[in-house]
Amino acid sequence: MKTAELRSKFLQFFASKGHQVVPSSSLVPSQDDKTLLFTNAGMNQFKDVFLGFDKRPYSRATTAQKCVRAGGKHNDLENVGYTARHHTFFEMLGNFSFGDYFKRDALCFAWEFLTSKDWLNLPPEKLLATVYAEDDEAYDIWLNEIGLPPEKIIRIGDNKGARYASDNFWQMGDTGPCGPCSEIFYDHGEHIWGGPPGSAEEDGDRFIEIWNCVFMQYNRDENGQMNPLPKPSVDTGMGLERISAVLQQVHSNYEIDLFVHLLHAVARVVGISYSQEVPSLKVIADHIRSCAFLIADGVLPSNEGRGYVLRRIIRRAVRHGYKLGCKQAFFHLLVADLVQEMGAAYPELVEKQTQISDVLKQEESRFAQTLETGMALLENALQDGVQTLDGEVIFKLYDTYGFPYDLTADIARERNISLDEAGFERAMAAQRARARAAQNFKANTQLAYEGTDTEFTGYQQCQNESRILALYKDGEAVEQLNAGETGAVVIDFTPFYAESGGQTGDMGYIFAGENRFQVDDTQKIKAKVFGQFGEMLSGSLKVGDAVTAQVDSVLREASMRNHSATHLMHHALREILGTHVEQKGSLVNAERTRFDFSHSQPVSAAQLAEVERRVNQAIVANVAVCARNMSFDEAIAAGAMALFGEKYGDEVRVLSMGEFSTELCGGTHVARTGDIGLFKIISESGIAAGVRRLEAVTGLNALQFVQQQEELLKAAVAEVKAQTAEDLLSKLQAMHNQSKQLEKALGEARSELARQAGKALLAQAQTVGTAQLILSQIEADSSALRGIATDLTAQGDNIVVLLAAVNDGRIAITAGVSKALSKTVKAGELVNYVATQVGGKGGGRPDLAQAGGLDIAALAPALASVRDWLAAKAV
Ligand code: ALA
Repeated sequence: MKTAELRSKFLQFFASKGHQVVPSSSLVPSQDDKTLLFTNAGMNQFKDVFLGFDKRPYSRATTAQKCVRAGGKHNDLENVGYTARHHTFFEMLGNFSFGDYFKRDALCFAWEFLTSKDWLNLPPEKLLATVYAEDDEAYDIWLNEIGLPPEKIIRIGDNKGARYASDNFWQMGDTGPCGPCSEIFYDHGEHIWGGPPGSAEEDGDRFIEIWNCVFMQYNRDENGQMNPLPKPSVDTGMGLERISAVLQQVHSNYEIDLFVHLLHAVARVVGISYSQEVPSLKVIADHIRSCAFLIADGVLPSNEGRGYVLRRIIRRAVRHGYKLGCKQAFFHLLVADLVQEMGAAYPELVEKQTQISDVLKQEESRFAQTLETGMALLENALQDGVQTLDGEVIFKLYDTYGFPYDLTADIARERNISLDEAGFERAMAAQRARARAAQNFKANTQLAYEGTDTEFTGYQQCQNESRILALYKDGEAVEQLNAGETGAVVIDFTPFYAESGGQTGDMGYIFAGENRFQVDDTQKIKAKVFGQFGEMLSGSLKVGDAVTAQVDSVLREASMRNHSATHLMHHALREILGTHVEQKGSLVNAERTRFDFSHSQPVSAAQLAEVERRVNQAIVANVAVCARNMSFDEAIAAGAMALFGEKYGDEVRVLSMGEFSTELCGGTHVARTGDIGLFKIISESGIAAGVRRLEAVTGLNALQFVQQQEELLKAAVAEVKAQTAEDLLSKLQAMHNQSKQLEKALGEARSELARQAGKALLAQAQTVGTAQLILSQIEADSSALRGIATDLTAQGDNIVVLLAAVNDGRIAITAGVSKALSKTVKAGELVNYVATQVGGKGGGRPDLAQAGGLDIAALAPALASVRDWLAAKAV
C-alpha cells in the first residue's frame, strides 16, 4: 500500500467512526503557546480543547499532522540519516476524543484498523502492546476484550527515574495535558536483532512502536502538580512513515515508496547513483521535507529562534551535498520532486513552491560562499591525529563561516573526533560580552513599580493635565527629581505613546509652571504602565504634583503619517506582489517608516511605482481612519490582518482605512488618509534570505525628498550644460557616444603608432637561415606587444618576432611566428625559452605566445640567445 493511500485510509476509517477530519495545523504553533518551538504531535492544535479552554463543534476528530522534531525539547536532528527511523519532519496520524470515548474505544478502534481485512489486515500475531504499569483497565481491555495473549501485554512503570517519568506516560512538554498511554508494537521478525519493550534488548530494531494511544487525564502545572482534566480524553499518534514501512514490508522508513522517490531525486541532483547505503542521501531527503514545509508555514532562515533551526537544517543538507562532491546549489531543485510526492495532500506546498525554492536557493548560495573556506580551515584543524577539536576553531567556524555548532559536530562525529564544547562556550560568552559593551546606552526600563496602571489618552489628544505617580532617578524610585537629573516619570493619564508595534515612543515635556522635565523617549515599564524617560531641565517635580503632559505634536503627527502609510503600503504590497507578503519587522518614527516583509526577489521599479501610486490613491481618497475594539475572533472574521508571531490579547484594536486596509494595531494614526499628504518610497533592499526592506517617507519629509532629487537633477542638468531635464538624457547619450568615438580614435592612433614602430623594427630584421628574425626590447604594454607582433608576422611568410618590455619591474615577452613557419618554429616554445631565462613562464598559440618574467638583469642575455636558438631550428 502506497504511503498516500495509507494516509487517506486512516482518515476514512476514523471518519466512518464519527470523527471530524480536521486539516493539519501549521508547523508554527499558535501564537500564545510559548511552550513549543514547532508542532511536534497531532494533539498540539487541540491542547486547549483538552484543557477545557476551547470548545469545538465536534467531540471526535482525526488528523494527519505535519510534525517537526528539531531544535527544542524533542530534537532528532543529529540522528537523521544514521538510523532507520529518525526524521526532522514526519507525519503523525491521530484520532482524538474530547470527553467522548475513552480507553476501550481507543484501543478497539486501533486494533480494528490494524487487523481488519477491510483495513490494514496485519497478522495479529505480529502485534504486541504495552500499558502503564498501574493501568489495570487498559491491561484488561487488551486481555479480555481484544484477546491479546498475556505474554504480549507488557506493563511498563516509571522507568525514567521519576514519578510519571515513563515510556508509558506521555506529556507534551514540561507542562500541559498528559496521561498514561498504551503503545502498540510490530515485530519485524527474528532475523532482526532486538527484544520486546521492557527487555534488555529493547533498543534493537526488531520490535518497533507503531501507535501510541494516550489517555489524557491530567494537566501538569509548573510545580509538577497533576490536575485532573475536565473530561478524560484520548490522543493517539501513529507515525505514517513507520506504518508504511510495515505495510510495504521494508525495515527502514527510507525504503518506503515516498522516500525511495525522494532518494532517487537527491541522487540525481547531486550527481551520484541511488543507494540505501549512503547516509548523506538520506539526510538530504529528510531535510528537504522539513525545510520546505517550514518555509511553507512562514518560517525563514535567520539567526535566532525557529529561523535558526531552519538555517541549521538547510546548512546541514548543503554540507552533506558537498560531502558527496556537489559544489553547486542543488537543494532547491528538490522542491519540485517533493511537491510531486506530497503536494496533493498538502496544497500549501504547491501554492508556495516558487517561494520555497527561491528561499532555499538564496540560503544555499549564501552558505556556499563560506562553506569551502570553512571546510579548508576545519580540515586543517583536524589533521594529524587530533582527538578534540579546539573550541576557538569551532567558534571561528560559527562566527566567520556560518557553521552552526551541530554542523561542525556532525563532521567531527564522522571522524570520531570530540569537540571542545567548553572552549566554544567560552568564546561565545566573550563575544556576547563584547556585543553588550558595544551596545549604546538604552533607557533602563526595568523599574520597580507597584502602583496603579496608567491610562493612555494619546489616541485623542497630545496634551492633558495629570498627576505624578512615581519618579525614578538612575533606575531607583525617588520622591523628587531636580534640575540636571535624568530619570523617568510615571503619570496617571498620559498622552505619550510608549514604543510598541514598531512605532517609537513619543517625546515632549511634562511640566508645572517653570518646573520642566524633557521627555526623550516613552517605554512601557509594565504591560499597562508607561514610563516617560528624559531629563529635568529646570526646577523640580515631586510625586503627587499636578502637571501638564505635552507631547511634541510635530514629531507625533509625522510618526502618525508614517504609521498610517505603513498600513496602506502593507496592503498595496500584498495586492501587487501576492499574499505571501507578511510583515517581518517594522520601525516607524517621525522621520520615516521602515518595513520588512517576506518576498524572495527584489521588488522591481515598476512594482515600486505601483505601490506608490496605490498608496497615494488611498491618500487622495481621503477616507476616515477608524479604530474599533472587538474580540480577536470578530476581528479576524472582519478581515483584519493579524501579524505572524505577534501576541494579541482577548480584546484587540482593529484599525481600518476604508477599503484600503484593515489591520490589528495599537498605534496612533491620522484621522483621515488625506492627512498623510504624500507618500514616497526612498529605498528597496534585501536584508536576509527571503526578506526585503522598504523605506518610505510621508508628508513634508516626502516633499523634502522630492525636492532634493530635483536639486540633484538640476545640478546634473547644469553640469552637462543641458537646457532642461528633458534634454539631460539626450545630452548624456550624446556625450556617451562622443566618448566612445574618442576612445575609438585613440585606439586607432595607438595602432598607427605601433605600426610605425613595427615598420622600424622590420627594417632591423636579421636573417637567420631562411627566416627573418626581429628581436627587440621596446616600451609598450603587453597588449601593444601582441598587436605589434601580430602586425609584423603578417608582413611575410618567414618572420619570427620576439619582443620584450619592462613595466613596473615586470617583464612582458611576446613571440610571434608567421603562420606558414609556425609548424616548424613554435611561438610557445620560443617564448618559454626566453621566459625560463628570466624566471618566468608562459604559453599560447604556435603563431603567437606571451610570457612574463622578473629577472630584469637576465633579459639582455636572454634576448641575445634567441638567434642561436632559431639557427638550431635549422630554418
Ligand atoms: N501525542 C502522542 C505522541 O506524540 C500520541 O506520541
